[in-house]
Amino acid sequence: MASLNEVLEGKSICICAGSGGVGKTTTSAAIASGMAAQGLRVCVLTIDPAKRLADSLGLKELGNEARRVDPTLFEAQGVEMKGELWAMMLDAKATFDELIARQAPDEESRERVLNNRIYQQISSALAGSQEYMAMEKLFALHTEGEFDLLVLDTPPARNALDFLDAPKRLTQFIEGKSLRVFMKPTGLAAKVTGRGVSVALSVFKKIVGFDLLADLAEFFNAFSGMVDGFQARAKRVNKLLADRETCFLVVCGPQGEPIDEAVYFHRKLVEAKLPFGGVVVNKVHYPADELKGDIEDLPETLADKLGDPDLAKRVAANFADYQALAERDAHNIDHLASELRTSVVIRVPHLDEDVHDLAGLAQIDRYLFATAEERVEMAAGRA
Ligand SMILES: Nc1ncnc2c1ncn2[C@@H]1O[C@H](COP(=O)(O)OP(=O)(O)O)[C@@H](O)[C@H]1O
Ligand SMILES: [Mg+2]
Repeated sequence: MASLNEVLEGKSICICAGSGGVGKTTTSAAIASGMAAQGLRVCVLTIDPAKRLADSLGLKELGNEARRVDPTLFEAQGVEMKGELWAMMLDAKATFDELIARQAPDEESRERVLNNRIYQQISSALAGSQEYMAMEKLFALHTEGEFDLLVLDTPPARNALDFLDAPKRLTQFIEGKSLRVFMKPTGLAAKVTGRGVSVALSVFKKIVGFDLLADLAEFFNAFSGMVDGFQARAKRVNKLLADRETCFLVVCGPQGEPIDEAVYFHRKLVEAKLPFGGVVVNKVHYPADELKGDIEDLPETLADKLGDPDLAKRVAANFADYQALAERDAHNIDHLASELRTSVVIRVPHLDEDVHDLAGLAQIDRYLFATAEERVEMAAGRA
């Protein structure tokens, strides 16, 4: 079985994708810190870190800029940090603003769009804009070339596939019919300047407090000059995602439904010709193989040790439940590996506590970056 190190060899982008709550943010942060510890300059682009994880990465505010995680914090955890870990939290709105600033032909049209009320609404509400902006920021960071490896966490989309379509959806919106209607001389903008309507509009203006139509017209006019630039850039973003230096990891849980979703997601990646690297199954229940045969005797053995037969019975029942879960997980993971026809199935156990600091990430890394032999030992519960 290939290890994560082999999968990431020579990659400059690693994208952790999967459904919500499975551990994408945790896995992204752990991969980034593990690769940085090995000597690379790594930046993790997180989307929605839990507050305590954000705090421990030094991500107190958005900012939309990468910050270096204090290296002495790793020393304090006994982790040797040979490289550099940087982290940033995606600010979709700020990324959109940066994109406008880049695409605008001049200062004036840039300001016109940025200050436009329609833009201000659209930039934060546009369907898929968070997904698209994650890709956009990734592309911008990649182009700047400051890092050896960029690790991208993906947004908690309702549907794990949303972000795959995001670039397309944004360009479709920009070049779409909705805009044409406004931009054509015979379009809505022209029609509504007719008399009766202008009365209605002035009433409307009173109600909403600003001249909606003027803002709309201005927005679409300023935006129309940028359509080509947007399209060209979206193409380059797509090209980067499909590049050999990019690698998609599917993160999932060990239960039936997450496994099915991972299978589906993998298929979509393959169809979209995006480079699939492997799958991380997080929060796995590991079996305690050496005890397996003795489950029947367990209550007695425990009663001796605990001196309380009732408690012993309950502990034994709990253990049997856990073993059943472990068997179910193992079965699901086998199924997943055969469906995906991949040898890269990396298991990470369900730790006793949430992962909210560098120590927690280091613990996840023990499993993520284990060699084949180490993994066999860990799976048997001996490590
Ligand atoms: N292996 C694990 N063991 C225990 N808790 C975990 C593990 N991985 C993630 N968690 C916890 O599960 C929750 C969800 O993880 P998160 O990475 O935020 O998921 P996602 O980004 O996919 O929504 C967090 O509270 C996190 O600390
Ligand atoms: Mg997340």
